Amino acid sequence: MITETQTAINTETAVKNPLGLKKIHHVEFYVGNAKQAEFYYRKAFGFSRVGYMGLETGNREVTSYLLKQSNINFILSTPMSPEHPGSEHIKQHGDGVHDIAFLVEDADHAFHEAVRRGATPVEEPHDHGDEHGMVRHASIATYGDTIHSFLSYNNNNGHNYNGVFLPGFVEQRVEGDPTGIMLVDHIVGNVELGQMTKWCDFYRDVMGFFRYITFDDQDISTEYSALMSIVMSDGGHNIKFPINEPAPGKAGKSQIQEYIDFYRGPGAQHVALLCRDIRSTVAKLQANGVEFLRVPDTYYDELPSRVGEIDEDIESLKKLGILVDRDEEGYLLQIFTKPVEDRPTVFYEILQRKGCKGFGKGNFKALFVSIEEEQRRRGNL
Ligand code: FE2
Repeated sequence: MITETQTAINTETAVKNPLGLKKIHHVEFYVGNAKQAEFYYRKAFGFSRVGYMGLETGNREVTSYLLKQSNINFILSTPMSPEHPGSEHIKQHGDGVHDIAFLVEDADHAFHEAVRRGATPVEEPHDHGDEHGMVRHASIATYGDTIHSFLSYNNNNGHNYNGVFLPGFVEQRVEGDPTGIMLVDHIVGNVELGQMTKWCDFYRDVMGFFRYITFDDQDISTEYSALMSIVMSDGGHNIKFPINEPAPGKAGKSQIQEYIDFYRGPGAQHVALLCRDIRSTVAKLQANGVEFLRVPDTYYDELPSRVGEIDEDIESLKKLGILVDRDEEGYLLQIFTKPVEDRPTVFYEILQRKGCKGFGKGNFKALFVSIEEEQRRRGNL
């Protein structure tokens, strides 16, 4: 009886999570100058440096810094030669997300199952090790030049790893002053006009995700900047990947098209970082110099009638520029940074969920008016 139940559960899990994904292991960025980017993420966002690889550690190909804050792991990498594939990534895209890497039960299984389901292979499963042990690593392609790595630490092949994070890194601690960001809530991908459904089908058919929320251009449209979005999620709601595509605005250019023009193709648009006390987190980030989008003050006049009773006093939210939205299950508080590089591409969302599982649909309009103002100043509307 127990065996049957167990089998039923395993079958269900297998259907819902065909690749055995556990969580986002890390996000790796290719950047032009990892040394300076590391300083920004440490001083502005409060990450600590915990690992390093580069010339001093015997790596002559690439220099990487591992940054950590709570459960968020970022790797910032700069290639050391123009021949390194990362150099082409930076030439095309500027600083951007190269790899959204998953911790999986078994990297071999995840890779072979993904490829069987239609994924484009990037790296075949291989051992990746140093004196601290071995991990198994493989990767597949997703939108644009972005990849998904699969990493497994303990699998049937007896892989195990006791070093800091990943083979190749040496422990190197430079403490940041934490700002309270804890976890990657979602990572949004921007794809070209007409490509959204294709990439949602990829996450459904290859990764076993399902369609969680759909926003059409009625939901997300202002005078100029329209977009469509579908949120794809794994069965456990741990991993959420909204996919945006530009929609024609009444005039001017969609903010998604602006991204695609400057990123030179599809890529990760924003990484949403979850925190427990958004007012304290945003106050620290602002004091550290992180620049946020602001909505007009009138937004806060309409807030009580739109979201009803909330725990936070509205003046304090207004002061910091924090936005609020509500669904049937609760509310969320969110705020968006300006792009964190010179090209108007990658930015961050800081968010706190109080029951709400949404993405801030009620804020789209106010937010997009602000984004359009920025686009106009950049000459990109
Ligand atoms: Fe978001």
